[in-house]
Amino acid sequence: MSHRIVVSDTNEAFDVSSHETILDAALRAGIKLPHECTFGGCGTCRIKVQEGSAHYDEFPMALTEEEAAQGYALACQARPDGDMVITPASKGLELPDPVRTHAEVRAVEPLTADISRLVLQLPEDLDCEYRPGQHMNILLKGVGERSFSMASAYPFGNEVEFHIRRVPGGYFTQDLSGSLATGSLLDVEIPRGTFCYHPDDYRPMMFVATGTGLAPIRAILESLLDDEDCPPVSLYWGMRTEADLYAREELESWADRLYEFNFVPVLSQASDVWRGRRGHVQQAIAQDFDEVSEFSFYLCGSPGMVTDTKRLLLGLGAELDYIYSDSFTFHHREHPVEA
Ligand code: FES
Repeated sequence: MSHRIVVSDTNEAFDVSSHETILDAALRAGIKLPHECTFGGCGTCRIKVQEGSAHYDEFPMALTEEEAAQGYALACQARPDGDMVITPASKGLELPDPVRTHAEVRAVEPLTADISRLVLQLPEDLDCEYRPGQHMNILLKGVGERSFSMASAYPFGNEVEFHIRRVPGGYFTQDLSGSLATGSLLDVEIPRGTFCYHPDDYRPMMFVATGTGLAPIRAILESLLDDEDCPPVSLYWGMRTEADLYAREELESWADRLYEFNFVPVLSQASDVWRGRRGHVQQAIAQDFDEVSEFSFYLCGSPGMVTDTKRLLLGLGAELDYIYSDSFTFHHREHPVEA
């Protein structure tokens, strides 16, 4: 038995058989739906269900029950109960097409004891374009893909920068300080992902990052420097210790270049001398706000942080349509669990 799915904004239609997910069937039919991890961990395949309903074999990690109750679903895990009409949640975003190419390692420099700055040079004749917030996939033969967010707003001279935490046993990241020498060539795909700045959304913006989840947010903020149309900006950045705050000075120096910039570093394992905020970013936001309905949110970090923060924000009156998020999925992206 199969069910008919219609994509509302393009009027494309396809059939889903009982053993398939919505995403599987769309891809089989040659219909593009945004996706990344395909196991329910990143949220990229989020759709709004306009008509019909779906169920899951196992409720996916990157969806909250509140989102499901408001009609959102994850296409890579959802199985239709009947015919459906759906809209991709990333509808309206104009994203550059990804290209496969190679990149040369230009620099690997320590930012902290376990975070490095990686600079890659893309071919000079490549017309490289990405939206700040998007990421690149590094294609590893026989292993799969590893995804890392661009930390810079633009590919300056086709050079792109990344912040990468070394993950013990991580196939790619454990080599960063060792064998990944300057001049090495990597196969890459760029750009990927739907996490990016939404210029048509004029609400005050609250950015929430943990760990190297700062990277795509740094790229977005850099793109907004000295922008007269920039809405007010808050940034909550969760790390473990003072030594982890590798971008603190730079972010503080942007105070006069971002509109009403409120930068709040939050440390979960601060030393006794730390005078700033302690705990987790979610706790800091809960302490600072009774309600947040006027804001847009950009969240990047572990699935746990993203899910917890979404729940908190929804409880404080946030609207789901204005929560943009990018979850790390560990075996895919080799990122840390929590700050
Ligand atoms: Fe569906 Fe990642 S592609 S959650």
